[in-house]
Order: sequence, then C-alpha cells, then structure tokens
Amino acid sequence: MKRKRILVLGCTGSIGTSTLDILRNQSDRFECCGVTANSNEKKLEEVSNEFNCPSSLTSRDGTDGIRKLIETSRPDIVVNGIAGAAGLLPSLITVESGVDLALANKETVVMAGPLVFELARKNDCRILPVDSEHSAVFTLIHQSGKENIDRIVITASGGPFRTYSSEKLKSVTVDDALKHPTWNMGVKITIDSATLGNKGLEVIEACRLFDVKSSQVQVVVHPQSVIHSLVRTKDGIVYGQFSEPDMKHPILQALDWPEIKKSYMKPFDLVDVAGGCRTLTFEKPRTDDFPMLDLAFLCAQKDGAYPIVYNASNEVAVQAFIEKKISFPEIASVVEKTIQKISWPSSVGTVQDVFEIDSSARKISKEILEK
Ligand SMILES: NC(=O)c1ccc[n+]([C@@H]2O[C@H](COP(=O)([O-])OP(=O)(O)OC[C@H]3O[C@@H](n4cnc5c(N)ncnc54)[C@H](OP(=O)(O)O)[C@@H]3O)[C@@H](O)[C@H]2O)c1
Repeated sequence: MKRKRILVLGCTGSIGTSTLDILRNQSDRFECCGVTANSNEKKLEEVSNEFNCPSSLTSRDGTDGIRKLIETSRPDIVVNGIAGAAGLLPSLITVESGVDLALANKETVVMAGPLVFELARKNDCRILPVDSEHSAVFTLIHQSGKENIDRIVITASGGPFRTYSSEKLKSVTVDDALKHPTWNMGVKITIDSATLGNKGLEVIEACRLFDVKSSQVQVVVHPQSVIHSLVRTKDGIVYGQFSEPDMKHPILQALDWPEIKKSYMKPFDLVDVAGGCRTLTFEKPRTDDFPMLDLAFLCAQKDGAYPIVYNASNEVAVQAFIEKKISFPEIASVVEKTIQKISWPSSVGTVQDVFEIDSSARKISKEILEK
C-alpha cells in the first residue's frame, strides 16, 4: 500500500508534535516528507533526522522555504500547525500548489477564508479542518447533509477562569491563564481559551468554513471537553461527536478523510476509568465577564474586514498581556476599541487587502495600548 506523504508546518509546536506522534505510530500508512519550524533550529534538526526528511526554518528561509519544500517533497497533505497570522501565507502556498490542506491554523480562515476556499476550488484540493470543534462539525454535516442543518453548536471548555468573579479576573496572571483544565496547547491559543477569544475565532471560522450565518452558531460551555461540537438538524434533533480531548483524533481524521481507519488512540467510553459513568455538564457562556465572545459574533455578522481586525488586535493585546503590559480584562478592551475606532471595509477583495487591514488594525491596537 502506498503511504500518504505528510508535510508538517510548525512541527515543533503542539499540533506539530501531535502530528509527528501519529506519523511515528502509523508509519505503515504515513510518511513524513518534510518539516518546518520558525526559530527552534535544534528541535527541527532532531525531527528532520528522526524522519530522514528535508526541513525549512522560516526565520532563516522565509516562506520561500515552505514553497520550495512543497514543490520538492511532493506531499499528499500539508498539516498547517503554525501559530497565528503567520500561518496564512503557507496555507495559500499549499492550496496554490493544489495540495490538500489539513488546517489547524484557524487564522487562515478568519483572515482570508473566502480567498483561500476559492483558490482551493480552482486548484482542485481540499481544506480539512483540524480544529477539534470544526473537525466534529465537518464530520457531522457530512453525515447529516448540509441542507438539513439548522444550527451548529460549538462547545467550549470555559478555560481556567470559568468560575472566576469579574473582580478576581482583574488580577489573574499569565501563569494562571496558561493552566488550561483539559487541553495541552501552545501559549497563544491557551490564553485565547482563557478569554474565550479562541471560541470567538472559532465562531468566525465556523461561519466561513460551513457557510452559515452567525445567528446559526451557538456556543455552549462544556467543561469536560469530551463533546467536541454538535449540529441540530431541521427536525430539531441534535447530533454530537464524543472523544477524549486529544488533538490526535481530529488530526488523524483529517489525514484519513474521507475514510475511517482503526486507530491506535484510546477508544472513547462513557464509563470512565474508575468504573463510574462520566458526568457531562453544560452552561451558558458568561459573556459579560468574557466579552471576546460577543465581539466575535459582532465581527462574524459584520464580516468583510472585521474578522481580520478581531484577529490582529487580539494578537497584539495577548502579546501585551504576556509581556505584563496590560491586565487580563484589558485584552478585550483593546480589541473592542480597535473594532470601534474606524469604519472598517465591508468587503475584502485580495490577499494584499487582507495584509493591509491586518497591519492597520495592529497599528491602531498598539496606539491604544500606548495611551
Ligand atoms: N494546540 C492545539 O491543541 C490546537 C487546537 C486547535 C487549533 N490549534 C491551532 O493550531 C495552530 C498552532 O497552535 P499550537 O498550539 O500548535 O502552537 P504552538 O505550540 O505555539 O506552535 C506553533 C508552531 O508554529 C511555528 N511558528 C511560529 N511562528 C511562526 C512563523 N512566523 N512562521 C512559521 N512558523 C511559525 C513554531 O515554530 P518555533 O517552535 O520554531 O517557534 C511552532 O512550530 C494555531 O493556529 C492554533 O489556534 C491548536
């Protein structure tokens, strides 16, 4: 059997490491044909030696290195596990080359979803969501039929501060924000999970990936993180996807899509290890104390440049929080002020427009931070 050739962008990060674990454990089916990282040269070299494949370091080779690697390593699928807006160009390069894209980098869809989808259509390649919620919805829609879906329900763990009072939120630290209760992820996404900014990005991502209005998307807090998302069909019935909270599940689903193969992962069981049944709970998100979620719904509804502004200002504000320049609640204030500062364009025609809006939003957010 011919093995699928996988190129891993961001192999030194959390998604990259999970992908490599799959490639190591299922080497009869997958072959790692190339790896990239940004600056962690030592780890990149270790991985490239282990899998005996070429590599590229973006801080040295730029995105040309990624382009060249895609050309020479002839992947069947590129996994994009790059963090932040830096993942957009590599996604564009992948679909321009006509290669299927297993997409963890949600910023690609939030910043330029329509442009990337159009390019993928033209070049006859697929975009397979890896974000666990979107992977679940993608599968559920496939099973139920797009025409039958009337609502998408995205679950959220609620993050480490789910039960904190608004008073207590004012003094939380970066270390507190990095203690995620159920998922082990990179720094930026972990802080976004604490503000609900990550869920906000996912709401926008869902609207774009599945072509639904923001009013058709609901967020429900589910602290155990075993239901990854649900869909409601037009007859009022809700279907959900359950598994242990481990990103290897959605990554493997994307690598095997549309097939379902026997996996080396722990199968899900509603009776837990101690022999008792699991308790699954659901809550409404506390949007007054976590305003990033409502801001995302606003940006999803306004569409055009607004999702780009949401993402860019959030990246600037989260970095300022990491550098201890602002408090936790101020992250959302910076994003809100940036959104409201000017009337942002209602449509975005080209990739160049995307980058121009991204840099204007970053500039405005930095000015707000300086005041
Ligand atoms: N982690 C999760 O469980 C999870 C779940 C769902 C979605 N996602 C999404 O997946 C993406 C990656 O998240 P993560 O948690 O894996 O991040 P991470 O652990 O911080 O890893 C980021 C990876 O991207 C590389 N990178 C950083 N800046 C780059 C740049 N400018 N150019 C090229 N490569 C760059 C890093 O290389 P260096 O190590 O050399 O810096 C590293 O390999 C994000 O979009 C996130 O929202 C993650």
